[in-house]
Amino acid sequence: MKHLITPNDLTNEEIEELFEDAKLFKDLKSNNLLDGKIVVTLFFESSTRTRSSFEIAAKRLGADVVNLEVNTSSTNKGETVEDTVANLNAMKPDAIIIRHKDCGLPESLKSYVDCPIINAGDGKNAHPTQALLDLFTIDEHYNGDIEGKNIAIVGDIANSRVATSNLELLPRFGLNPILVAPKRFKVTSSFKTVSNIKDVIDDLDIIMSLRVQHERHEITASPEKQAKQKEKYIKKYCITKKLMGNRDILLLHPGPVNRNIDISDEMLLDPRSKVLKQVENGVAIRMAVLKKFILQKSE
Ligand code: NCD
Repeated sequence: MKHLITPNDLTNEEIEELFEDAKLFKDLKSNNLLDGKIVVTLFFESSTRTRSSFEIAAKRLGADVVNLEVNTSSTNKGETVEDTVANLNAMKPDAIIIRHKDCGLPESLKSYVDCPIINAGDGKNAHPTQALLDLFTIDEHYNGDIEGKNIAIVGDIANSRVATSNLELLPRFGLNPILVAPKRFKVTSSFKTVSNIKDVIDDLDIIMSLRVQHERHEITASPEKQAKQKEKYIKKYCITKKLMGNRDILLLHPGPVNRNIDISDEMLLDPRSKVLKQVENGVAIRMAVLKKFILQKSE
């Protein structure tokens, strides 16, 4: 049984096949490829895009979706996630999509199920379908000519699963990541890392802006210091029209965007911003992923 926990669960060839399917699904029209299949979603962390995108993708393929409301489920009564998943598995779903704050949890659930587990984000560890839709959006924009393109990943890299999964995936397709972050959000990495985006802006083809992942921070600074930090952060890392100038740079963000902190209102309206295109492509990519993993041949 094949599961999707990180982008490394897929070969480049499999990813290219997924993209071929996603292109066919791009009109987001309904079909009956997964007629009679049942997909369970289990979101222990907040989600707008990913959860609805998976649900719409499954429904577009003709599958039924059961969204377990974790706030009213037995996790509240002391049941472990492993037991919850084993119980759901006993009802014979065709896939389980899970998001949880604990890194490594989806991986550890593999032995409890007979259906594919699709990781919809585990802490700061991985978010494979986001990285796939990001790569797909880049590939689409450049008509497949992405080898050697420079992509700045800007913001809270240390706490972002979107960054982790993109840093795993994008270099496999020839993209060069440049990490742009203040000291507290940097990671040890073999990729070029800078504090100031202005130092690299002229070399960039793509900017991927990330939200500050407050939910994963331990707050030690006083409210005054936090306010100062925020002000400094905005000055240096908010993607504005002034920073972009007339440069031909593709602007991405996984959402949710913190307006005028991550990206300015003005830049969100700029045609170089592909934030909503990413959301649209996300459904097509998830349709391709669900099709592949649910219809996989048993090994
Ligand atoms: C991201 C996530 O949850 O990791 N959002 C998403 O899935 N589109 C990024 C974020 O929360 O900042």
